[in-house]
Amino acid sequence: MFRKRSYIAALIGILLAMTVLFMAFGSRLFTDIEEESVVAEESGGGQIVVGVSQLGSESGWRTANTESVQNAFTQQNGYFLIFNNARQKQENQLKAIRSFISQRVDYIVFSPVVETGWETVLQEAKEAGIPVILMDRSIDVDTPDLYVTCVGSNFVEEGEKAGRWLENELSRRGDANRTVNIVMLLGTQGSSSQIGRTVGFASVSSGHENWNILEQEYAEFTSTKGKEVMRGFLRKHPNIDVVISQNDDMTFGAIEAIREAGRTVGVGGDITILSFDAVHDALEMVADGMINVDIECNPNQGEYLLQVIDMLEAGQTVEKRYYVEEDVFTIDNVTKELLQERNY
Ligand code: AHR
Repeated sequence: MFRKRSYIAALIGILLAMTVLFMAFGSRLFTDIEEESVVAEESGGGQIVVGVSQLGSESGWRTANTESVQNAFTQQNGYFLIFNNARQKQENQLKAIRSFISQRVDYIVFSPVVETGWETVLQEAKEAGIPVILMDRSIDVDTPDLYVTCVGSNFVEEGEKAGRWLENELSRRGDANRTVNIVMLLGTQGSSSQIGRTVGFASVSSGHENWNILEQEYAEFTSTKGKEVMRGFLRKHPNIDVVISQNDDMTFGAIEAIREAGRTVGVGGDITILSFDAVHDALEMVADGMINVDIECNPNQGEYLLQVIDMLEAGQTVEKRYYVEEDVFTIDNVTKELLQERNY
């Protein structure tokens, strides 16, 4: 009898402790999902609910891309935005997309951190009848009807532009047939921007036997990693002539490493720098002659996304691919006006 009573008392104690623990931490554990659910319910007043899974915040370009999306999907424009930052992890994006599906949003927009591994979750979205729009990067799937359209950059073309610029520049310098030693800082492994730019540049470099790719390494599109990888290149290769850096943040880190190693960069320097993105700070460096060329990658994709959703809402057919407009910048076309109006 005594043992039975103490057993019941212990059970009650455990239940009380669990209740206290749940009140203290449980609500915090479920905050995200609850807040998002409330948001979706509150938005019932005729607004279009869009769940956006942004892949991270690794670069200045990414910050600008996020701002562009947030400025587009506003209440004034008739939208209710549920935004999630996946912090560079595909598993976080999968979780966010599933959460959007369970909240029955009207559209899912996401920038895939890598190209592969999306079939299952996109099938789930399809079965739930939610249209999926890719932004910035694309995916590699056997069934393209898993997404409606993709709004972003032509990364292969960007890589080709870098190759063509180098080709012309070497001819201009009278170095077209000289051996040119190149290192490459690559972006996030398996992302479509990394793959596209690599493929595009290779399509030009393969036609030049004298272009000697000494080494290429992933540096995650970040300044810290760009610096670290560049330091390694400089230690191993005293003869680097050209750096191809697949985004501006890696370029900033790489230039720091090069200068610390006592070498010079850019126009008239001993290492030629090719970069991608063309964010404001990088364009300043182009104007100052520290970066030789910057291949633009346009982060202002919010407006394009609005147009696509407007068309879908109007029952119109949309293209499978929309490319944003992009330019190439050198010291010759970075004007004061351009620097003033560049808000990222
Ligand atoms: O996918 C676009 C790339 O991702 C941009 O070049 C880079 O800065 C970003 O992190």
